[in-house]
Amino acid sequence: MRRKVIAGNWKMNMLPDETITYIDKLAELVKDTESEVILCVPYTDLFYALLTAQNTNIKIGAQNMHFEEKGAYTGEVSPKMLKSINVEYVIIGHSERRQYFNETDEAVNKKIKSAFEYGLKPIVCVGETLEQRESGKTTEVITKQTELALQGLTAEQVENTIIAYEPIWAIGTGKTATSEDANNSIKDIRNKIAQNYGQNVADRVIIQYGGSVKAKNAKELFSMSDIDGGLVGGASLDVQEFSNIVNYNK
Ligand code: PGA
Repeated sequence: MRRKVIAGNWKMNMLPDETITYIDKLAELVKDTESEVILCVPYTDLFYALLTAQNTNIKIGAQNMHFEEKGAYTGEVSPKMLKSINVEYVIIGHSERRQYFNETDEAVNKKIKSAFEYGLKPIVCVGETLEQRESGKTTEVITKQTELALQGLTAEQVENTIIAYEPIWAIGTGKTATSEDANNSIKDIRNKIAQNYGQNVADRVIIQYGGSVKAKNAKELFSMSDIDGGLVGGASLDVQEFSNIVNYNK
């Protein structure tokens, strides 16, 4: 049985004092969950988040990183830096980074390899645009993105990668994929992983759904056969709402 992994992606929101208050409250609200709870916070909140989340079941992640260990890359943060303060997870290839910061499949692949090299666990995002969906290309797009993202990884690394299927048209729009559509797309990704790395790896890899996940649709989505939890943007900014998503089965 795969575990459920529910990750909040705060994007460019929240200050250190808000981070501390939020995590103190969340820790109380989710202390009994069997799901894995992750918060991916801005770089400036990481240290505060890690301190506040100590001795709780909340894990902390970053939202991006460079693939190099160090060097002349003004404004970037390296995997070694994240690891040095005990960050555990890192989101790689979010559609907003692909769209606004020209992150390519090649860069995404380098970042995933580098994350593993430095002992970070990547949460890798894939997803189709509305245009691609409407022209019937969803399966082709998301399986190709998955293949390129994971290229050159060992089967063990693939098994330890979290994949977030996030249809771009569903992010921040209030539109969610139907649970059947989301489940089918995730099955397509899982089948591609089975083809490339074997059925055992495919059966174990965590694949989340992301895109307008809310407390009111979490149970339906997370109860589907292949959806192993969610990557939650907007709804993760409200601690009560996010805890209700984590506690979707209560
Ligand atoms: P959303 O964002 O939940 O606000 O749609 C999801 C994401 O971008 O990870």
